[in-house]
Amino acid sequence: MKKILVVGGAGYIGSHMVKMLLAKGYEVVTLDNLENGFQDAVVGGEFVLGDLADRNCLNDLFTANKFAGVMHFASHIQVGESVQNPGKYYQNNVANTLNLLDAMVANNVNAFIFSSTAAIFGEPEYTPIDEKHPKQPINPYGLSKWMIEQVLADFDKAHGLKSCCLRYFNAAGADPEGELGERHDPETHLIPLVLQAASGRRKNITVFGKDYDTPDGTCIRDYIHITDLCQAHLLALEKLMDGADSMAFNLGNGQGFSVQEVIDVAREVTGQEIPVVESERREGDPARLVADSSLARKRLGWKPEYAELSTIIKHAWLWEKNFFCGEGGKQETA
Ligand code: UFG
Repeated sequence: MKKILVVGGAGYIGSHMVKMLLAKGYEVVTLDNLENGFQDAVVGGEFVLGDLADRNCLNDLFTANKFAGVMHFASHIQVGESVQNPGKYYQNNVANTLNLLDAMVANNVNAFIFSSTAAIFGEPEYTPIDEKHPKQPINPYGLSKWMIEQVLADFDKAHGLKSCCLRYFNAAGADPEGELGERHDPETHLIPLVLQAASGRRKNITVFGKDYDTPDGTCIRDYIHITDLCQAHLLALEKLMDGADSMAFNLGNGQGFSVQEVIDVAREVTGQEIPVVESERREGDPARLVADSSLARKRLGWKPEYAELSTIIKHAWLWEKNFFCGEGGKQETA
């Protein structure tokens, strides 16, 4: 049985990945410092409380385990915060990731899956965005991810470390079985905030800008179901472990939905009114971000299973109701 290290396995995407790996029969070790993750989101395998800044912790971990591959989800992800506090982003997302890569090289572990982002492209020059699109990040978050993508190219040349960079567009939804979901604190993402407004945990949803150059004036994004996202990770990991060369893919549904459309579908799915407040544009939001994921479909044989926006919202709603609002649920006011 192959053993996989999932760094950040207690977070939103990492926890869904751990569950999928276990279901596929892999042995899993989760490393997480629980700064943003939750230990009870790690549904199985071994859990190690530790930080990528701690090289001794990494040495111990790699000495005690023979990993067939490493998946890295432990990044800071807030664009606005990265502008205010760039050091935090370069320290964690870049310097700490280097510690992890060094530990892999020192222990001859050669398969690395890296959570990258659409933010590496900056303001789109065209859409849908394919892998060839210029990389011109406009904030430290995007730049920190693009730096590591370039570091990985050099580690491949120097050490033969094979990697797959997966550039997420808008990861959304929740485990279809209702066991896991999104628990960011603070929550900044559109779909969970819309559903908090539907469940009554917040009074309304603020729409950031209705004057974009889009059909209804609100921003268009490409929402990809968390299960489909994890499926792409699994296919990429297995390809690398089978000896494939380093790769990079854009991951989205290839279909854009506006903020207004998300709210409209959420109203249908939840049967709730969802009060809306209009406000100014949020700084740094491009009008339209849609992925061209045809390369991932071709090279990985990846086929999104939950491409409908209504399904993504339905699963997120199940989580919102059961985890936050259900009997014995975590009653929190947003
Ligand atoms: N939005 C609102 N109101 C809110 C929250 C969001 O109108 O309360 C809008 C945003 O302005 C944006 C859309 O909803 O137009 C989606 O916003 P999210 O914050 O959910 O997601 P982003 O597209 O801003 O961010 C995603 C990832 C980031 C990544 C970025 C790439 O979550 O990690 O794409 O640009 F950096």
